[in-house]
Formats: sequence, structure tokens, C-alpha cells
Amino acid sequence: MMVTSVAPVNIAVIKYWGKRDEDLILPINDSLSGTLSVDAMCTKTTILASSTLKENIFLLNGKKQSFENPRLLNCLQEIRSRANPGLPQLNWNLSICSENNFPTAAGLASSAAGYACLVHALAALFQIEGDISAIARRGSGSACRSIFGGWVQWCMGSSPTGEDSIARPIAPASHWPEMRVLILVVDDQKKKYSSTTGMQRSVETSKLLEYRATEIVPKKIEAMKEAILMKDFESFARITMEDSNQFHAVCLDTFPPCVYMNDTSHAIVNMVHTYNKFKNSSKVSYAFDAGPNACLYLLDSVVDEIFSVINYVFPPVTSHQADYITGIPITREPI
Ligand code: PMV
Repeated sequence: MMVTSVAPVNIAVIKYWGKRDEDLILPINDSLSGTLSVDAMCTKTTILASSTLKENIFLLNGKKQSFENPRLLNCLQEIRSRANPGLPQLNWNLSICSENNFPTAAGLASSAAGYACLVHALAALFQIEGDISAIARRGSGSACRSIFGGWVQWCMGSSPTGEDSIARPIAPASHWPEMRVLILVVDDQKKKYSSTTGMQRSVETSKLLEYRATEIVPKKIEAMKEAILMKDFESFARITMEDSNQFHAVCLDTFPPCVYMNDTSHAIVNMVHTYNKFKNSSKVSYAFDAGPNACLYLLDSVVDEIFSVINYVFPPVTSHQADYITGIPITREPI
């Protein structure tokens, strides 16, 4: 038996940061994201189940991985426990082959697409129906949001066993068809510390995190839902940028600090604010995950202009950059 699934990444506009239960992956705050279209950045996973397979196999981007990954096993166990016990494939070994069409573990939500895709494919293989977002959550928290398209809220839930910590669609992508996301890849290398390590450290040491989770995020979630439902880009952009900034402030308030953004990330922030000031309104917004890469949310009408601005501020490779690569540093001021 063979199934193939494809799942896109999602980019949070209200970030998830901090767990109240590490094993069950239960967050300390709700989060909200946009799921990219499936023809953009996505994971494709094919699972073969066969009675003749000698062992379980897991390949990620063509490289063999350990099957003993606890998160993978948790997802598998949850799926198997919901399946009809009479299914023969429940006892067969699996060959899982997963590929991302974008940099993996570089702070570009690869685990969100990856686990959403894995769980979707497993659910098809074992004929599971109903909401599978809580199962995807066991792989990677943010993965539960990629189970749905469009605008999605992950409700933190209150149950200690996590059955109400699920994703819920807020509005389909068709609700705001003019919305676009530009991903500016600043660095495609693996991030310095995983989000798991960063979150753990923030929960243990950041005083700002608790304030954010209890006082700020609940209000922001409501304001963000309203901005999306009203298609109010100005408010949407402001809340998105404020939340990204606060999330990175928490990372810096962590001890030792988790520094995810770099000088180029800050130059992008500068570029966006300069452009918005010039336009007298927020036409573009940024969101940075646990890495230096920028996700710009903007409307279709400004994409061409923003492309020109990006090319001006960060020119394509020139002889100057070649000089830089050969060791002569250049400086470039944002507009
Ligand atoms: O799901 P994880 O463990 O990869 O954590 C994702 C955390 C952020 O990307 C920084 C924020 C979010 O809500 O996606």
C-alpha cells in the first residue's frame, strides 16, 4: 500500500513560543498563522506499507534518518491507536520518504509542513477520519496549523491531556485572495538552536514570556482575527510586526539569549519601516520565525514595487559582492 501527501508551510502572525507540557506539546498561548498555497513551499511524503519490508525506514531529503525519533513514534502511536484494529497494514513495516522543496531546519517552518504531511499520509494509510491536527501537534506544535489551509488558529486548550489543543480554521485563503507572502532567505543553514531548545530556555528564564502569554497574546489573537475577517491590512500588518518583535524580545530576554535575527534581518526590518513611512501607511509587514529569514506579508498590489525596493536595498550579486566573498567587506546602508 502506498500513499503520497503534500503539505505547505504556515507562517505565524501571532507566534507560538513556550510549552506547558514538553511531551504532549501543549503551548502556553494560542497562535495564528496563514498557510501558504500548496504549490509554494511544501513537503511531499510518500509512505509505503508492506508485509515484506524487513525494517522501518525513514528518509528525509534522501538521507536516512533514525526511525527511533520520539516525535515520529508519538505520531505513529496516536494514529495506530485510532485505527480499526483489524487493518492488516497496522502490523506492517513502513518506508517513509519525505522531501522539502526549500531549506530544512533553517527557521522556515519545515517541521510544520513535515509533520502535517507525515500525519496526513499516515491518516490516509490507516483510514483515520476526523480532525488530525492534535496528532500533527505531537510531531511539531506548529504542524497542527498546516493541517488546514487559509488562516488558522491553534487553540492552546486547557485539558492536561491535550485533546482540546487543536487547530481551527478562521477563514479560507479565498477570503483574502490579494494576500501574498514573500520569503527572503537570509541564511539557508540550519539554525543555531532548535525551537525546542529555545522555548525550553525561554520558559525557564524569561520574565517577559509569561506576561506575553497571559496579558498580550489573548488580546492580540482577537484583534488579529478581526483584522483578517475585516480584511484590514493596516491593523493586520501592525499586529504581525509587533508580535514578531515581541517574540524576538522574549528570545533576547532568555538567558543565555537566543539570537535568531542577524544584521541582514534588521536591515529588512528597517527597509519595511522606511517603505511604510514613505507610503504613510503599513503596506508591508514582516514576521521572523526562529531564524534570520524574513516572511513579508503584503497585498498583491505592492508586490512589484517591493521587489524593486528589495533589489535596490539588497542588489543581486555584483562585482562588489564578489569582492565581499573574496574578503573585502562592503557596507550598504538601507534606503
Ligand atoms: O513547531 P515548532 O516547534 O517548530 O515551533 C515553531 C515556533 C515558531 O515558528 C517560532 C513560531 C510559530 O508559531 O510558528
